[in-house]
Amino acid sequence: MSRRGAAVQLGGDTFPLEVGVAKRTVFHARGLTRTYRVGDVEVQALRGIDLELAAGEFVVILGPSGSGKSTLLNILGGLDAPTSGTVRFEDHDLTGADARALTQYRREHVGFVFQFYNLIPSLTALENVALATELAHGDPHARAAQDPAEALRLVGMGDRLDHFPSQLSGGEQQRVAIARAVVKKPDVLLCDEPTGALDFETGKLVLDALRRANRELGTLTVVITHNAGISAMADRTLRLRSGRIVDESRNASPVEPAALNW
Ligand SMILES: Nc1ncnc2c1ncn2[C@@H]1O[C@H](COP(=O)(O)OP(=O)(O)O)[C@@H](O)[C@H]1O
Ligand SMILES: [Mg+2]
Repeated sequence: MSRRGAAVQLGGDTFPLEVGVAKRTVFHARGLTRTYRVGDVEVQALRGIDLELAAGEFVVILGPSGSGKSTLLNILGGLDAPTSGTVRFEDHDLTGADARALTQYRREHVGFVFQFYNLIPSLTALENVALATELAHGDPHARAAQDPAEALRLVGMGDRLDHFPSQLSGGEQQRVAIARAVVKKPDVLLCDEPTGALDFETGKLVLDALRRANRELGTLTVVITHNAGISAMADRTLRLRSGRIVDESRNASPVEPAALNW
């Protein structure tokens, strides 16, 4: 089902869903800072970030190396905590949460995709994805996972179910990693330079897989990148520089990943 094609019937007239229906904000961050201390050296990786992210949107966070992108993504994903400021995901205050609460938050709500795919070499594509559903098994809050083969079909890997990672190209491994991240149907998919290790054409296939997961599962998808070309496919782009958001733009007509250029 395409979210974009969705419509509502109101009193005999049909309206496209985007019109007049504000998307629900799920992340609220205010005044986030993150200072790293290494010996006597202090690095201010984030210097006061305010942001809101809405359910279902595809957001690119664009910035040069060292601008604080990974730091911000790790805080949104509950992998790290800010030095000051607040961040909330729906009714979860991530700032005040202890390690146990953050683990539960990640397990129930977040999928991660990193630059390197981190698949288990001794398991097939299907087994790598199935493992993610088994880890959630026994969690009373876990929602019904997708069928692992279905998740692989969604990312265009339905004909590689029994391949081992060593039998797959980098782009194919990354698509398996995306299937593994979305099989639990997370509310949010956080991607740190997902095409960073890939050539241009392969990168576009990976972005297409992310776009499909975003549309078909309605997953809020955040892609951080230093590659400005990717922002053409986003609903919204935030530009990060030296730990601050310096620009925000909305894209009325995002292009399909296949049409990207960089
Ligand atoms: N664990 C860490 N310890 C110390 N400094 C760090 C750590 N992680 C990141 N930094 C520093 O914080 C700044 C922002 O890093 P990062 O968020 O990784 O940026 P980006 O992902 O945009 O390249 C950089 O100057 C980096 O050197
Ligand atoms: Mg980074």
